Amino acid sequence: MAKAVADDYLRRIPKAELHCHLAGTLRATTVAELAKQYGIALPRPAETLYQWPNFDGFLEILRIAAGVLRTPADFTRAVYEYIEDAVRDGNLKHVEFFFNPDYFYPNGIDYPSQVAGMVEGLRQAKEHFGVSGLLICCIDRSLNNGAQAVEIVETALAHPHELVVGIGLDGNESVGPPALYAEAYALARKGGLKCTAHCCEDYLTPLQAPPTNYLICRDVLRCDRIDHGYNMLASDFVMSEARKDGLYFTPCAWTSLLHNRPHRPQRIRRMAEAGLNVTINTDDPAMFGTNLGHGFTTLFESVGWGPDMARRFSLNSVEGSWLDESSKAALRMTFRKEIAALDKEFGYEAVALPV
Ligand code: HPA
Ligand code: ZN
Repeated sequence: MAKAVADDYLRRIPKAELHCHLAGTLRATTVAELAKQYGIALPRPAETLYQWPNFDGFLEILRIAAGVLRTPADFTRAVYEYIEDAVRDGNLKHVEFFFNPDYFYPNGIDYPSQVAGMVEGLRQAKEHFGVSGLLICCIDRSLNNGAQAVEIVETALAHPHELVVGIGLDGNESVGPPALYAEAYALARKGGLKCTAHCCEDYLTPLQAPPTNYLICRDVLRCDRIDHGYNMLASDFVMSEARKDGLYFTPCAWTSLLHNRPHRPQRIRRMAEAGLNVTINTDDPAMFGTNLGHGFTTLFESVGWGPDMARRFSLNSVEGSWLDESSKAALRMTFRKEIAALDKEFGYEAVALPV
């Protein structure tokens, strides 16, 4: 049976990526090269580095990979290489990177040096690829209790940078339920930072990462956006609240755990068809063996959506971004033009794009 939309259209439709951990984007070859340069022992060779038995095992490898970034230039390289890969693989136009500052402190690289390195990578990528980027300072809940999270936010606020626009919360959701971080989030908001949090992830059951975590993220953390969200599907009430709230969600088409991979597209389908504002993201692309284009092609192959949904996800990624209004308007215009050109090239019926 012919596909409802060509893979090439899905790969080439413009995208903004709103859920992407810098450490999870590191090419295994880059990790191996830097490890050699710094004399760091890795647990396995590059070809098999990105393998793990369970979610906490994945987090462990993620932190080991992050540990090879030792100088600002390494951060610059990481940012630049990911954008280079994502432009090629999925027509990336804008990216918002999560970075966990405390992953790097043990190796002597302080917060301002991390930010300076990443900002330089964003500058070079803007110059070479025309891609814009923002940074989100992230709290790993597996490593930080509420008081430690406050310290992370204090550091971010003590060293403000116009490209560091918000905070996030990742790590194991069952270890750090969202309410623990109320004080850190209140401080961030007071300091003018936007807020997002990983919530209702499906490596946990709906009892371990319950739909009510969404309500806590909304009402206590006062999040502007939500990462993932799948376990919300277990509660009609929470789903109907989320639809009314209109927050943007950043689910990811491919996942860390093999047994979740067949289910993910159907969960994203149900979220989108329930009327949530959904964007499609890669999370930790190099580590999961996916990329921006692959996420779209596998999702659409599994669900059977046509070009209308591809256009919607493409434009949603602009609307859900944390760009200022004038940059967002410019990006929206770029997306609309590129989508119109693609529709013409592929002979897809031209539809009035949502305003
Ligand atoms: N969930 C939790 N922690 C993470 C993730 C994620 O998707 N990616 C990197 N750290
Ligand atoms: Zn994530």
